[in-house]
Amino acid sequence: MSGPADEALFETGRKLFAGEWRFVWASAKLAELPPMQGLEIAFAGRSNVGKSSLINALTGRKALARTSHTPGRTQQLNFFRDSDDLTIVDMPGYGYAAVGKEKVAAWTKLIQDYLRVRSNLARVYLLIDGRHGVKDTDQPVLDQLDLTAVSYQVVLTKADAIKLAEREPTLAKVKAALAKRPAAHPEVLLTSSETGLGIPELRAAIARLLVERGMA
Ligand code: GTP
Ligand code: MG
Repeated sequence: MSGPADEALFETGRKLFAGEWRFVWASAKLAELPPMQGLEIAFAGRSNVGKSSLINALTGRKALARTSHTPGRTQQLNFFRDSDDLTIVDMPGYGYAAVGKEKVAAWTKLIQDYLRVRSNLARVYLLIDGRHGVKDTDQPVLDQLDLTAVSYQVVLTKADAIKLAEREPTLAKVKAALAKRPAAHPEVLLTSSETGLGIPELRAAIARLLVERGMA
């Protein structure tokens, strides 16, 4: 992104996340979802990919969303808000077998139910570990997103752990894997919650989404 219009988006994005974000709700099942309010964006991805860390980096908070070295930290849909306009949802990770089949089934159902019913869901940010790329366990979720026609954008995480020379080829490979997916946003973002790389760009992308929906 470059040019005056895009600079304005960076500023809108910065402001969007400069406020006091707070935890407002946790849901373990469909019946417990909070009432819809404004637009929602959700962060999905494999367990340990860095969803909660990215939400902390976006909001400039160290521990708004709980993170862990152990996969399976986030076990519910966690909702965060700073105003009436935008809600951020931290989703349980998928693809981590050690938590047991029953739990995996319950989370999968929760994620599917949520995607199906949440009409104020403006976009899903699907996180992919930049070191590993798109994995087999990501495919059912990509299929589900295409099926429910939820707009989604892939965000690569942990860029600090990818060698500089490997960043562009990694991006190209992921873009190629998404090329035939109808609901995927063509732009893929590269981020690091550790160094802040790509965070202003992600904020600007979210700001653009709100502008497009007449919310910012
Ligand atoms: P679940 O809630 O289990 O699904 O995991 P999650 O996707 O929320 O991941 P979380 O944010 O808890 O991070 C998992 C691990 O990855 C932690 O040890 C983080 O410190 C690490 N991590 C997250 N983001 C980054 C990053 O940008 N760079 C590096 N090097 N490590 C990261
Ligand atoms: Mg988490």
